[in-house]
Amino acid sequence: MAEAVSHPLFARIYPRMNAFAEAHGSVDHRRELLAGVRGRVIEVGAGTGANFRHYPPEVDEVVAVEPEPRLRALAEQAVTGATVPVRVVSGRAEELPVPDGSFDAAVISLVLCTVPDVPRSLAEVTRVLKPGGELRFYEHVRSRKRSAFRRQRLLNPLWRLLCGGCRLTRDTERAIIEAGFGVDGIRRFDFLINGRSGPASPSVIGVARPPAAGQGRGGVTTGS
Ligand SMILES: C[S@@+](CC[C@H](N)C(=O)[O-])C[C@H]1O[C@@H](n2cnc3c(N)ncnc32)[C@H](O)[C@@H]1O
Repeated sequence: MAEAVSHPLFARIYPRMNAFAEAHGSVDHRRELLAGVRGRVIEVGAGTGANFRHYPPEVDEVVAVEPEPRLRALAEQAVTGATVPVRVVSGRAEELPVPDGSFDAAVISLVLCTVPDVPRSLAEVTRVLKPGGELRFYEHVRSRKRSAFRRQRLLNPLWRLLCGGCRLTRDTERAIIEAGFGVDGIRRFDFLINGRSGPASPSVIGVARPPAAGQGRGGVTTGS
């Protein structure tokens, strides 16, 4: 059985953090993340289920995996407002409780900053996707600007403590490529709140294809 993840403080504050972020534009990021997704979808680290009301009608079913009990309970409540059928299950990114090759798309939003083992999580995404499947990702990432990155590094220990293990300094695009994915499209941007940048502003939204069996390192084929 999957090891439980318990972040009671973060689970209490995240719904408010998310509502604030959505009121300042992240709701558009969620729509951008999910535009054109179809078929059977696995959402990894679904949190409160904030994506559920943005899935397009071409999606047949979403299996939403969430390890934190309080957040999972909120995700279960969010199913009623979902645009497509959603099933919420317990589990971790590193050990997805689903069979091989069973999904057309995997959706990960604001989760690879937090999972303890990113390569293993991405290997699991590869395992559960059908041939021709895709990974949709939306993440805040390490800054490409040296001074901003230094600030992220300084803040990281406190941030991790308050935000359920989240790291400000992960180079998630690179991790996806190192896991063998080919990045089909990526938008790198600063998510500004009231015109100001913060430690978690540098962000990416993108689409990637998993490595075919036996293939090695991926790359970026399009996007800026
Ligand atoms: C910042 S929240 C994002 C939630 C949601 N995806 C969203 O877009 O609002 C981070 C989520 O990652 C989950 N998480 C933490 N460790 C995880 C793991 N090992 N596997 C899967 N999810 C994990 C947390 O429980 C939490 O729901």
